[in-house]
Amino acid sequence: MSVHGDSRPMTVPDLRRMKGGVPQVWLTAYTMPMAQRLDPICDVLLVGDSLGMVLFGLPSTLAVTLDMMITHGAAVVRGTRHACVIVDLPFGSYQVSPEQAFASAARVLAETGCAAVKLEGGAEMAATIRFLTQRGVPVCGHVGLMPQSVNVAGGFRATGRTDDEARRVMSDAKAVAEAGAFAVVVEGTLDPVAAAITRDIDIPTIGIGASAACDGQVLVIDDVLGTFNDFTPRFVKRYAELGSAITAAAQAYADDVRARRFPAAEHTFRRCIVRDGK
Ligand code: KIV
Repeated sequence: MSVHGDSRPMTVPDLRRMKGGVPQVWLTAYTMPMAQRLDPICDVLLVGDSLGMVLFGLPSTLAVTLDMMITHGAAVVRGTRHACVIVDLPFGSYQVSPEQAFASAARVLAETGCAAVKLEGGAEMAATIRFLTQRGVPVCGHVGLMPQSVNVAGGFRATGRTDDEARRVMSDAKAVAEAGAFAVVVEGTLDPVAAAITRDIDIPTIGIGASAACDGQVLVIDDVLGTFNDFTPRFVKRYAELGSAITAAAQAYADDVRARRFPAAEHTFRRCIVRDGK
C-alpha cells in the first residue's frame, strides 16, 4: 500500500505533494515481470536509460534509442497497477530543441501509457522543461552527475566538490524546479550540497549517491539485487546476491542434464492421455 493511503495509482501530483514527507521509494524497472514484483512496494518505477548498460551491455547510456525506451516502458506499464511509471528520454531525443523534446515525449506518453518523462540537464534545459510542462508533459529533472554527459565530464564522477561545482548543481536544480519540473533526481552529488538543494527548492529531490536528506531515493534494481556484476558504485547497497543464486541454479541444472538426472519421471509424460478418439 502506498503512503497516500489507498490503492489507486500514484499520480504526478501525489508525488509533488510528498515534498518534505515520508521519503519516496523509487526503483528502476525494465521488464513486465520485474514491474509486477516492485509495483506494490514502490511509489515510482523508473524506466531508466541505464537499461542500455544493465540489459544490453553498452558501455554508457549514449546509444540507447527512443524505440528501446518505448518497448521497455510499455512492458513496465503493463506490469504496473499502483506505482507511477516514469520513462527516461534518451540521449539525442530532446537536446536539439523544445519541439524535438515534445515530439519524443509525446511518443513516449502515447506509446507506453507512462505518467511522465525524465530528462537530464540543468539551466540549459529549463526552456525545454517549461515548453513540455506547459503542453501537458510532466517532467522530472536530473541534475548533478548526468550519465548522458559522460564524455564532457570525462567519466562518472561525483560533483559538488568545489564551491563552483556546488553552486552550479544548486542553480541547475533551482532552474529545473522554476521551469515546472515536478521532481528532480540529484545524482552523484556531495551530501551537504544535495541536502541544501532539498531545503532550497519546493519540489521533491530524489537522491542517488546524494543524501538521506533528499525527499526520496532511487537505485538501479539490478544493483540492489546483485545481478549486475560489472561494477558496484560506492553509493549502492546490495540487498541480495541473486547473481550468485542464478549461477548456482544454472550449474545445478547443467549438472543434472549431463548426468541424466533431469528430466526425472515426474517431469515426463508416460501415460497415453488420448482416449476414445479424443
Ligand atoms: O537511468 C537511470 O536508471 C537513472 C537513475 C539511476 C536515476 O537515471
